[in-house]
Amino acid sequence: MNAAGLIKRLVHPSGLDDDGALRAAAHAKIVLVTGASYGLGEATARKLGAAGATVLLVARTTDRLEALASEIASHGGKAQAYAANLGDETAVDELVRRILADHGRVDTVINNAGKSIRRSLHLQYDRFHDFTRSLGVNYLGPVRLLLGLLPHMRARGNGHIINVSTVGVRIVPGPRWGVYQSSKGAFDIWLRSVTPEIQADGIAVSTIYMGLIYTRMSAPTPIMRVLPGLHPDEAADVVARALVRRPREITPWWVWPAEFGSLIARGPLSQGLAFLHRRSHDSESALGIQAPPADHPRARGGT
Ligand SMILES: NC(=O)c1ccc[n+]([C@@H]2O[C@H](COP(=O)([O-])OP(=O)(O)OC[C@H]3O[C@@H](n4cnc5c(N)ncnc54)[C@H](OP(=O)(O)O)[C@@H]3O)[C@@H](O)[C@H]2O)c1
Repeated sequence: MNAAGLIKRLVHPSGLDDDGALRAAAHAKIVLVTGASYGLGEATARKLGAAGATVLLVARTTDRLEALASEIASHGGKAQAYAANLGDETAVDELVRRILADHGRVDTVINNAGKSIRRSLHLQYDRFHDFTRSLGVNYLGPVRLLLGLLPHMRARGNGHIINVSTVGVRIVPGPRWGVYQSSKGAFDIWLRSVTPEIQADGIAVSTIYMGLIYTRMSAPTPIMRVLPGLHPDEAADVVARALVRRPREITPWWVWPAEFGSLIARGPLSQGLAFLHRRSHDSESALGIQAPPADHPRARGGT
């Protein structure tokens, strides 16, 4: 293993390396993956489709979902595309209705769809939609989806919710990340709050506090191109570990001391972050100069 591979192993949680266990856990399961058109969701859906799950693919980009469903089917798997905007309440209700009509149940929900924004406050004075859109996909949409599916899962006495969260909700909130961290944090807190209620009815909940993944989400932020990250397929192995082992959480080891440090050193950290903010810049996509790329330059291959 080279130095870059070693650093990656140190920084990120390990993924599942047991195809047999994944096939046993995924076989004949109906797994809903939100955000399946790109990045981690796409890689996860592909992996679970190959392992024998029936994968329900949710996102807005219909042609990508349909292409992925066809690809999974061409390898002998089962997948169905459900185009829906999670930020649209009516669309989420209709999504739940269609899925239950088509399949009768969902065994596993992988809450993966997400929107990330890194933008300074002064650039958001006339961008309230940054907040409403992020809350829609990162918080309110997933809550509404689960409000529709959980009654059926609880009545059947089993199910698994896998939430793809971010290490950002565990450590000191950084400048420019407020809308992303607060919306991801809101869902994290809501899910932790209801977990004791739904666990009693046989629903397992696993939260993955993900670090950097090389996807179109992280691509617009230049520093994210050089920091050690996972490729989508490697991150999908971490989701596969959650599906098989059903842990309460998967968290990189360094988050625990960082979380503790965030608590005891709030003042100095806030001053340090203010200093860094003054010496750094908003990305071109945050400034609206450049559209976000469709994919991360390091999304495939390499380290
Ligand atoms: N990338 C990272 O470094 C990183 C780090 C920590 C955590 N995460 C988390 O990992 C998850 C996956 O992120 P990613 O990096 O794979 O991002 P990505 O490549 O940008 O994919 C995001 C997915 O969410 C879908 N989505 C966005 N808005 C939606 C909406 N309103 N309705 C339905 N679907 C919507 C997108 O599909 P459409 O555009 O087709 O709708 C896409 O499939 C997210 O929850 C993110 O917060 C990512």
